[in-house]
Parts: sequence; structure tokens; C-alpha cells
Amino acid sequence: MSSEIKKIAVFTSGGDAPGMNAGIRAVVRACVYHNIEVFGVYRGYDGLIENDIVKLNARSVSNIIQRGGTILKSARCDEFRTPEGRQKAYENLKNRNIDALIAIGGNGTFTGLHVFYEQFGIPAICLPGTIDNDLPGMDYTIGYDTATNTAVEAIDKIRDTALSHNRLFFIEVMGRHSGYIAINSGIAGGAVSIVIPEAETPIDELIAQLDVGAENNKKSSLVVVAERGQSGSVWEIADQVKEKAPYYDIKVTILGHLQRGGSPTYFDRVLASRLGVAAVEGLLEGKKDVMIGVKDNQIVYVDFDRVNNQRHEIDDESLRLAKILSI
Ligand code: F6P
Repeated sequence: MSSEIKKIAVFTSGGDAPGMNAGIRAVVRACVYHNIEVFGVYRGYDGLIENDIVKLNARSVSNIIQRGGTILKSARCDEFRTPEGRQKAYENLKNRNIDALIAIGGNGTFTGLHVFYEQFGIPAICLPGTIDNDLPGMDYTIGYDTATNTAVEAIDKIRDTALSHNRLFFIEVMGRHSGYIAINSGIAGGAVSIVIPEAETPIDELIAQLDVGAENNKKSSLVVVAERGQSGSVWEIADQVKEKAPYYDIKVTILGHLQRGGSPTYFDRVLASRLGVAAVEGLLEGKKDVMIGVKDNQIVYVDFDRVNNQRHEIDDESLRLAKILSI
């Protein structure tokens, strides 16, 4: 592979996701393999602006494939939204002759890379690192599988106590504007109802569904609710049900950031490894200003307009499945 690119910097940005370390490792080792100098930027765009950049080698990423979080740390950075902030970042890269970037993050991370590319023409590829699985054009984001497994494990534990006390639990899972974690942890955890941000769940319908279960001898029920949905917060939903159906003994559990941590599953490690190597090779082949992903087991490149304007829709079949299984 011959290319003008001789030095690549890698960083993680936005909410961390299990598997980011496997992605960093893959980028670093693919660079070493192709004789490219590789640098790590700490704290995402903050580190680019503040010149928090170190040279990495194959050993810098030993023993991290199994670790959650990100060894490069992460941040959500406001200064990079300004032309002045981006100018500082550009100067820092120029001083080291770094000629391409690989970021691991979600929508916001890719937006930053895209704007930077438009301003300075630095080739850049973004790996989809977010537990939300909310990026279009690909099947899965790095971290989603682990986070969903974590949610299922927690839901199973709540089921034990729900059953012991004949209680109704509302369990909030993460997924900003995206019901992927909710729908699949709900199906896998045997939820009676799943509230996703993409659709409104009328309270009367939810209560009717719960009542059918109770009439059919269900002693306890679990409702999985994605955060920030059209139907309100998990507390609002639970309060409304409490008011209209006071015969249920209701509890609320918010799983929160525990879903972002933990050792990545084999699936997230392999996905991140494939994408990390493919991103380096994509840059060497001349790809720029794209998000990389896997769709139908093939590496794909998704452009900024698509990532910015489309959603990763939840398929109707998953919704139908959840409904059938809840009786
Ligand atoms: O985007 C990943 C995510 O974990 C969302 O599911 C959640 O809404 C958000 O990040 C939380 O962000 P923060 O850690 O900044 O509170």
C-alpha cells in the first residue's frame, strides 16, 4: 500500500463505550504493521487543542483488549466547535506532521471530524463508538452489544426480586434518542412492555397490557423504558400508572452509567478490531471524511450527510416480536 500518509493520530471522544480500547489497539497495531507512525491524543478534542498527544507503539496497547473505558480518556469538548479551537488543534497536528486522524465516537465526534476536514482538509475516519447503536448505514456500533448484555444481566436480577414481592418494576436503560438497548434488552429480559423514544406509548394501552398479564396470572412484571422518550421519563410513566392503577406495587430502577462500563464482549472486541484495521487501511487507500462500519458482515463507509440526516431505525419485526411475547 503506497500512500502520502505517514503519521496518524487516534483518539476517543464523546461517551465512552466498551470496545474502544480494542479499537485503539487495532489502529495502533495496523499502523505499526504498515510502517506508519502513530500517536494517541488524550481526552478527545480537548487533547487535540491542548496538545496532549503522545507517540504510541505496539506495546503501548498491550493488555487493553479486555478492558472497558478508554485508555486515551474521553471528553465532550465545546471549544472544538469554534474556528479558533480548531485552529489550535490544527497547529498542534501540523507541528508534529500528523497527516490523518482516526476518531472513535458517535454522531458528535463525526461532526467534529467533518468540520475539521472541511476547514483544513485533513483526511479522517470515524469508528462508531457508542453504546446507543444509533448510527445509520451499519448494523452495530462498538459497545452496544456489551451494554445490552449488561442491561439484560441487571434486568434478570431485578426479575428475582420482582417475583419474590409480586411487584411491577419500571427499568430505565440508556440510549439517547435510540431504543436499541431498550428493545433488545427488553426482549431478552422478558419485559411485558418496552417503551422506546421513537414511538409514543399511551399510558392506558400500557395499563391494559399489564392488566392482561395480571388476569393471566402474572405475578410480577417488568417494563423496560428508554431514557428521554416521547412518553416522558421513567418516573413520569411510573407515576401515571400508579395513579390510574393503584393496585400495582411499583418500583423504579435506573440502570444508568453501569451500562457504559465493563469488559467488552467478544462481539465488540472483534467489531472494534476489524474496524480499527480497516480504518487505517482505508486512509492509506485514500478514504477521507467517512464513518466506517460493518453491514451484512462487510466493511462499509458512510458519508457525513447520511450519518447526519438519517436514523438507525428499529425494525418493525422487533416491535412485533416484543408484543407477541408479552402475553
Ligand atoms: O451516547 C451514549 C450515552 O451513554 C447515552 O445513552 C446517554 O444518554 C448519554 O451518553 C449520557 O451522557 P453523559 O455520560 O455525558 O451523561
